[in-house]
Amino acid sequence: MRTRRWYQCIVLMFVVPVALSFAHAQDENGLTIGFLPVGGESEWYTALDENVREEVIQRGFQLVYGENCAQDCHLYAFRLLVEKRVNAILLVPIVRTGWDDVLQEAQDAGIPVVIMDRFIDADESLYVTHVRLDFVHEGRLAAAWLAQATSRRCQIIELAGTEGSQAALERQSGFNDVLELFPGMVIIASQRGNFAQSGGRTAMETILVTIDPAEICAVWAHNDAMALGAIEVLKEVRIDPSKDILIVSIDATPDMLEALAEGEANATVELNYHLARPAFDALEDYFAGELVPKQILIQGNLVTQDTVAGYTGVD
Ligand code: AHR
Repeated sequence: MRTRRWYQCIVLMFVVPVALSFAHAQDENGLTIGFLPVGGESEWYTALDENVREEVIQRGFQLVYGENCAQDCHLYAFRLLVEKRVNAILLVPIVRTGWDDVLQEAQDAGIPVVIMDRFIDADESLYVTHVRLDFVHEGRLAAAWLAQATSRRCQIIELAGTEGSQAALERQSGFNDVLELFPGMVIIASQRGNFAQSGGRTAMETILVTIDPAEICAVWAHNDAMALGAIEVLKEVRIDPSKDILIVSIDATPDMLEALAEGEANATVELNYHLARPAFDALEDYFAGELVPKQILIQGNLVTQDTVAGYTGVD
């Protein structure tokens, strides 16, 4: 009897508080959400960050913003959020691989994780859902537009995104799927610009060292930021992007929409940054014990010089 009471005391002193801290019940301040962003890579991510902040305020939650850091410290920044014992983590990964251990640590601490935007190679039991964009579709849409704009004959320069990122891998494969249908469309040079405007500049400068601009029919950039960097370089070497070379990319950022309106670029595929609402809906369903699908897909449309005037932004 005595032993039993002693055992009950231990349970009350240690196990119950630990269990409560893992229970993640919404307290009077709402859920505390850890958000690990990609950082200032491109204008598109600024819009996504803003969307998360707005949704957090609307729902009366608290936001713990993860360290804004590069690829090599992203795992460390994730661990810091786990240590802070947030109620849930929204993860926007930079690259696909290397996440299993930290996701397991979050799961062991009872912290559910929702992945947004890019995806990762990890067991699906380690996350609640992935609010994903259709990168393959985006690459295909960009290539299909280019095929139709050039009567299926075009020598293309590719400005590629960050190595190992899902956005770069899948946009490339979607674009190349379409190219395989049209032998007259070929990529004559490819340089990595890591999704940054400065990266797009450097990549374009490097390409122009060996390739005569007269050979280039189009620049295909894995995102708008790199395309805008390339446009700067083209203008500096007196190539008129509105006449001499077609520019197609992805994101539909405000600066790219302006470039389309001014005739300096030709087409972009809209990348919806309104990912916070479906992510938080999924989390609330999860906490309510409802079944959440492992993928929530968000697709975007093409915006061109012809349609930009009537374009009202993502839904
Ligand atoms: O994963 C989203 C992509 O990465 C966006 O197209 C781009 O702007 C970002 O850097």
